[in-house]
Amino acid sequence: MKKVITYGSFDLFHFGHQRLLERAKALGDYLIVGVTSDDYDRTRGKINASQSIAERIASVKATGLADEIIIEEYDGQKIDDIKRYNVDIFTVGDDWKGQFDYLDKYCKVIYLERTKGISSTEIRSENRNTNLGIIGDSIPFFKRILNEAKFVNGINITSIYCEKSTSLKQEKNLELKSYVNFEDLLKNVDSVYIKSSYQTRYKYIKGALQAKKHVLYESPACLDSKEFEELTSLAKANNCILMEAIRTAYSTAYKRLSLLAEIGKIGEILSIDTTCTNMKRNDPEVFASMYEWGPNALLPIFQILGVDYKKREIISRTSKEQDIFSRINFIYPHATASATVAEGAKSEGELIITGTKAYIYVPAPWWKTEYFELRYEDQTKNKRYYYQLEGEGIRYELVEFLQAIKDEKDNPRIEKQVSAEICKVMNAFKNREDLVEI
Ligand code: CTP
Repeated sequence: MKKVITYGSFDLFHFGHQRLLERAKALGDYLIVGVTSDDYDRTRGKINASQSIAERIASVKATGLADEIIIEEYDGQKIDDIKRYNVDIFTVGDDWKGQFDYLDKYCKVIYLERTKGISSTEIRSENRNTNLGIIGDSIPFFKRILNEAKFVNGINITSIYCEKSTSLKQEKNLELKSYVNFEDLLKNVDSVYIKSSYQTRYKYIKGALQAKKHVLYESPACLDSKEFEELTSLAKANNCILMEAIRTAYSTAYKRLSLLAEIGKIGEILSIDTTCTNMKRNDPEVFASMYEWGPNALLPIFQILGVDYKKREIISRTSKEQDIFSRINFIYPHATASATVAEGAKSEGELIITGTKAYIYVPAPWWKTEYFELRYEDQTKNKRYYYQLEGEGIRYELVEFLQAIKDEKDNPRIEKQVSAEICKVMNAFKNREDLVEI
């Protein structure tokens, strides 16, 4: 019996897939199809498959062509599979030509002609796409978003509005339509990504929502929880997605460590301590470190311990009207937490979650979480976890934003009460409530 094996994502199963499987089957008597797992797809850069592995397997099964379906989970697995299943022929489309020649040590390798004019990527772009405008105050920000959006099918960045329009004029490499007027930009997009300065952010978010545009915004939305409530009501009334862009929340490692904490892996949680610092000083902005880092540093505290703390104290060092170092201490009924932020002072940027059985340790820079450890008193029990974060993580936010627009449903990655509480703390800081100067 001649055994044939082939692999693919088979997302949004299409005619090209069908033809590939038919020809693969015709090469032998028994066809094994390897469907890539969701995690494996992510690690090889396919971050926005529309369907889950269960759905993708179901489509392959429905063709009746596969005698056996397996899941592909790691690099090098093809060699293992070929040996394990005594495969005679390995085949894939010729878009992979040359890339699997190394398998000819184990079996025959055949590249089949790829069907022209169709791909999952194209279908994904047709099914869900949005014309996105970017609103910001710095060229590096525009470039970062443009670069990351290339990895997300369906996000078309069409236009830019720069608050400091003079800086945009000096930039020759941004080949996008740029507007001198925010209202004009709104007429030409259906969604916006906002990272203007904190003084204007609320105004732009509100303006975009009033014009019925979906909004992805860098945190904090505003420096007042009442204003935040107003924005969420407006988004609801106008059927718009309002999504907060704290990148950490969208990284796989962060999601996994939150789950481990939630299911009690480290016992009862007694303390969460986060630190985010850098030496770089931005444009002279008052409230520098709190504004730049506060939302990120508060995220795990509010997501894991909730927002019903009993007491809050802010300690801050100001220099030339900027807070260069601040710490917020929280007391909960059964736990405590601290968020340390600095822009103009340096410390170890780690996250530690202390539990009664063990602790979770995320090394610096924890906000770009890829790696973390569960650490026990008995070190032999320690566990290490690694989930690669591609690029800067912005692409994951964009994928989820697009999905939320398509589903017409807000994304629960960052709960609204967490976002509201972040605004509340920013407001307290602005008004010097519970604040001790050092
Ligand atoms: N394939 C094909 N003809 C197409 C599309 C895919 O023969 N028009 C083949 C691929 O060469 C591969 C298999 O089908 O052997 C599974 O491909 P997959 O990567 O899942 O599909 P794509 O449509 O190429 O997906 P994407 O756009 O996400 O890369």
